Amino acid sequence: MITVRAPATSANLGSGFDVFGVALDRPADVIRVEKAPRTTISVTGAGSQYIPEDPDKNTVGAVAEALDAPAHIDIDKGVRPASGLGSSAASAAGAAVALNALYDRGLSREELVPVAGEGEAVVSGEAHVDNVAPAILGGFTIASGGDLTAVRARMPVVACLPEIAVSTRDARRVVPTQASIEDVVETVGNAATLTAGMCRNDPKLAGKGMDDPVVTPARAELITGYETVREGALAAGATGVTVSGAGPAVLALCREGNRRKVAREMVEGFADAGVEARAYQTRIG
Ligand code: HSE
Repeated sequence: MITVRAPATSANLGSGFDVFGVALDRPADVIRVEKAPRTTISVTGAGSQYIPEDPDKNTVGAVAEALDAPAHIDIDKGVRPASGLGSSAASAAGAAVALNALYDRGLSREELVPVAGEGEAVVSGEAHVDNVAPAILGGFTIASGGDLTAVRARMPVVACLPEIAVSTRDARRVVPTQASIEDVVETVGNAATLTAGMCRNDPKLAGKGMDDPVVTPARAELITGYETVREGALAAGATGVTVSGAGPAVLALCREGNRRKVAREMVEGFADAGVEARAYQTRIG
């Protein structure tokens, strides 16, 4: 039997829609795999009642098939589905790493990313690797046109998860299909600034690059209390705030020492909007 811990992730970071992702220290799924004549799946933990155990409908079933690695796969969910924290990606990434080891398939971490991406497609309809890449490689990742770049960034963050559900499919429906050249220029500038900040482990610079004039404003409409939460986190010293993945979680980049205050303000911001929320004080890593 092999056991792996598969971390939550946050995709996009505002300016890097469908490109940027970061791995978070917590929450995480725990995946256990054991060889079996055919694949079976059991799911427990956060939101497990919404996750199918049928291998044809579960993200890890597709991963087992792609690796020709039938197994009993036990998933203990720490990352709630429909959270914006890469729930299905965590399971797909964890299963890819665990099954590769169980069957000695010999694939590198980079080679496992598209395999886990196929698993992701089962639930999201499209194979995005912006969550599975950081879940497998760690740190900050750039997934662009089939190329992957990973940067060993390590910074404090708060991921604040409200008790509302936003499906990736719904959140993709509101993404504008066109952008003005001014917005494209601003987004490119912000994405470049963010990348430089991640390479330098500089939360101030990285936070400056998280603003996005195109996708985030449309998605923020789906998250009750988003503006209050964002303003509260920035006032408490967060260096950048954005929607985590497809939402509803909100990600705030912090400096050492202000994470607790940022977390408190974010939870209170959601409470002011009548929404219960929990804040993970965690770290990119
Ligand atoms: N980049 C994706 C999105 C992440 O924001 O829709 C979820 O797969």
